[in-house]
Amino acid sequence: MKGVWGLAIAAGASLARAQSSSSSALTAAATTVAATAASGAPSLFPYERVQLTEGVLAELCAALKNDSLADLFAFGSSSNSTSADSTVEKRSNVKHSCKVMPGDAGWPSERVWDLFDILVGGNLIKAVPLASYCYPEWPNYNADKCATITADWLTSNLHMADPTSIMLPLYEGRTCMPSPYSYTDSCEQGGYPTYAVNISTVAEIQLAVNFARNLNLRLVVKNTGHDFNGKASGKGGLTVWTHYLKDKEYYPTFTAANGYVGPAAKFGSGIQVWEAYEFGKSIGKTFVGGEAVTVGMGGGYTAGGGHSPLSSMYGMAADQVLAMEVVLADGTFITADSKENADVFWMLRGGGGSTIGVVTSLTVKAWPQLETTTVTFNFTVSDTPSADAFWAAIESYLENFETFVDAGTYGYYYIGADSDEVGTEYAGDHAYYFRMESFVAPGKTVAQTEALLAPWFKVLDNLNVTYTPWYNHADNFHDAWSAAFPQEYVGTDLVKTASRLLPRKVFQSTELLKQTWEAYRDAVEQGLFIAGFHISGTGIAVDPPTDNAVLPAWRDTLTHVIVGSEWNFTSSWDVVETLSLFVTEWMDVLREIAPDSGAYMSEGDLLEPNLQESFYGSNYERLYALKQEYDPTGLFFALTAVGAEDWEVQTTDPLPYSWNTNGRLCPKST
Ligand SMILES: Cc1cc2nc3c(=O)[nH]c(=O)nc-3n(C[C@H](O)[C@H](O)[C@H](O)COP(=O)(O)OP(=O)(O)OC[C@H]3O[C@@H](n4cnc5c(N)ncnc54)[C@H](O)[C@@H]3O)c2cc1C
Ligand SMILES: *[C@@H]1O[C@H](CO)[C@@H](O)[C@H](O)[C@H]1NC(C)=O
Ligand SMILES: *[C@@H]1O[C@H](CO)[C@@H](O)[C@H](O)[C@H]1NC(C)=O
Ligand SMILES: *[C@@H]1O[C@H](CO)[C@@H](O)[C@H](O)[C@H]1NC(C)=O
Ligand SMILES: *[C@@H]1O[C@H](CO)[C@@H](O)[C@H](O)[C@H]1NC(C)=O
Ligand SMILES: *[C@@H]1O[C@H](CO)[C@@H](O)[C@H](O)[C@H]1NC(C)=O
Ligand SMILES: *[C@@H]1O[C@H](CO)[C@@H](O)[C@H](O)[C@H]1NC(C)=O
Repeated sequence: MKGVWGLAIAAGASLARAQSSSSSALTAAATTVAATAASGAPSLFPYERVQLTEGVLAELCAALKNDSLADLFAFGSSSNSTSADSTVEKRSNVKHSCKVMPGDAGWPSERVWDLFDILVGGNLIKAVPLASYCYPEWPNYNADKCATITADWLTSNLHMADPTSIMLPLYEGRTCMPSPYSYTDSCEQGGYPTYAVNISTVAEIQLAVNFARNLNLRLVVKNTGHDFNGKASGKGGLTVWTHYLKDKEYYPTFTAANGYVGPAAKFGSGIQVWEAYEFGKSIGKTFVGGEAVTVGMGGGYTAGGGHSPLSSMYGMAADQVLAMEVVLADGTFITADSKENADVFWMLRGGGGSTIGVVTSLTVKAWPQLETTTVTFNFTVSDTPSADAFWAAIESYLENFETFVDAGTYGYYYIGADSDEVGTEYAGDHAYYFRMESFVAPGKTVAQTEALLAPWFKVLDNLNVTYTPWYNHADNFHDAWSAAFPQEYVGTDLVKTASRLLPRKVFQSTELLKQTWEAYRDAVEQGLFIAGFHISGTGIAVDPPTDNAVLPAWRDTLTHVIVGSEWNFTSSWDVVETLSLFVTEWMDVLREIAPDSGAYMSEGDLLEPNLQESFYGSNYERLYALKQEYDPTGLFFALTAVGAEDWEVQTTDPLPYSWNTNGRLCPKST
């Protein structure tokens, strides 16, 4: 079936008309394919049926009457391209050379961008930093808009609805933030991409991928912008923004290629955690997603493994995936499952976002409706008789990790010192706090949860710790979760975090447990904070899959520990550098406690020593080989992603290269 494209250009619209006339006969380059699906495969969403094909490209070529212009949108060499082989040859020369930036000779002219905009259905956005509305030297300066942006700056909703903003602006270069939060007090483009396509069809992704690859542009994929290391940004980039791919469909009985037969749902990759959980409630099912309300389900979260309040029960988010739809680096659109494109399927479940393709949808397992109890409480050192009692209370929590995890529960906790003490050399012993953001007991009543917590709480009581647990129960996971997990603050450039996964054997050894507990205390006394989870990546209710790329260390983990250093809005680049290095170095204590384990790539340290081994473990060799096979020109890049070690961001801020995304992307100098 021919789409509008074929009809619109039948009259042979010339490039000149495309360039000069707003009433151009050129329209979006796409055709709509039939809705048939192979058995076992989910059917394509309407936006996935709108595709770019060789046929569409042939018509584009005829209409433009300019082969080299049409070639900008051609598929890559590994697809069944009909373009001359010599063109393909030429393109492979762009392999591993510096990406083209605005101002370079190779940067597309305004006219070419205009043509691209037409082909992507008018969805191209010339991106400005979100807070540029606050800076009078920017043409879009608008005091009212600035006031709204400033008021909402710490909310994820603001950043996720913007085509290029990210939630951790440290990684775009600390530029262009509203004045209360701004260190630089200036607004430059920074690491924010130059253009973005607000994606509404697969064809638009294919066009953007082909255009960026053929012109050697820096391609960025942004979903929500939640990534801890700002992976969804990149100076001079073209962003594929997947946020509005929000279709969803429930399959009461889905027969998957891997043999699973049961309930499942297909989610567009723009679906966020809260939307998946709400959908689950509405159909009496439960989906495995993150704790955070607005993290994306189908982008970096699932690709990186994805931990969940339900992981100790059902495993990682990546374990739930039965099939996915993907636009690969050569522009082709494929279905990947355990039979078809099995190596892509393996890689994109644990190997990380922005590696070899853009995921457009995921089909995931649906679990039965699940009653859930959550428990929230906190205490500071003032609620205990002494600092030693405070730390004894923490020790007793660590002693219970094995029991808690083996009961299928999860806990998200913070330990630190009061903010006015943080950043000082010694945080003092009078300001410690512990906060159980939420202890989540899936499948348990309040009474069962109380019984599970009793041994720990008895120790707290004997220590004379004052705390008031708040029990929250619902007959479904969504309602329990939504009451217990408020939206988290984002938008500041004040923290640098690192991760370590600690395995079961640490908690079975008196000596290693003691070392871990002492390390926690040392971290806080040195001004660091801990955001930790008691969690298993295996799941007591399932057999963990062995055929995906989730970091193997996750399977044996009892806690994922995030340790962070913090500074303030006036802290200089020197302070940022020193405190960033400090947390990386401090983590050696935990690395030595668990040398064979690893770190969680999606909440990890971009300065992690032996990063590939820590984030990807024994999977790395295969991941790297697949990266070369599927993305030979290095189209996809993100800090810390597979293959990132072959590149460097020539950071323009007073920081070492590749500490943020604010600089030209080039092959690593040797
Ligand atoms: C407040 C907060 C809470 C969090 N809670 C959890 C949690 O409970 N569990 C957990 O495991 N993690 C959690 N995370 C970490 C989270 O997994 C990562 O931030 C993850 O990268 C977010 O993915 P995203 O797609 O939403 O974000 P983005 O920043 O938009 O993207 C992240 C990476 O994935 C790539 N990407 C995005 N979409 C696609 C796509 N469709 N195809 C290919 N690549 C894509 C991007 O290029 C980028 O490299 C949390 C983070 C924050 C800030
Ligand atoms: C490649 O060729 C096949 C069969 O000839 C065709 O169905 C498919 O659409 C082509 N791929 C592209 C990207 O045009
Ligand atoms: C064809 O397009 C290329 C790329 O935009 C341009 O440089 C060239 O001048 C065009 N040729 C003609 C004949 O218009
Ligand atoms: C992006 O497209 C969606 C529709 O898919 C629209 O609702 C939204 O306003 C657009 N956002 C921007 C910034 O263009
Ligand atoms: C707790 O308080 C009780 C009664 O006030 C006291 O007898 C006991 O010694 C205290 N225990 C600790 C560990 O402080
Ligand atoms: C800490 O717990 C008390 C009840 O013991 C509660 O009133 C307070 O709001 C909690 N503080 C935080 C920061 O959650
Ligand atoms: C902010 O941090 C700097 C060091 O980075 C410190 O000198 C300064 O006192 C801090 N300011 C406040 C208000 O805490």
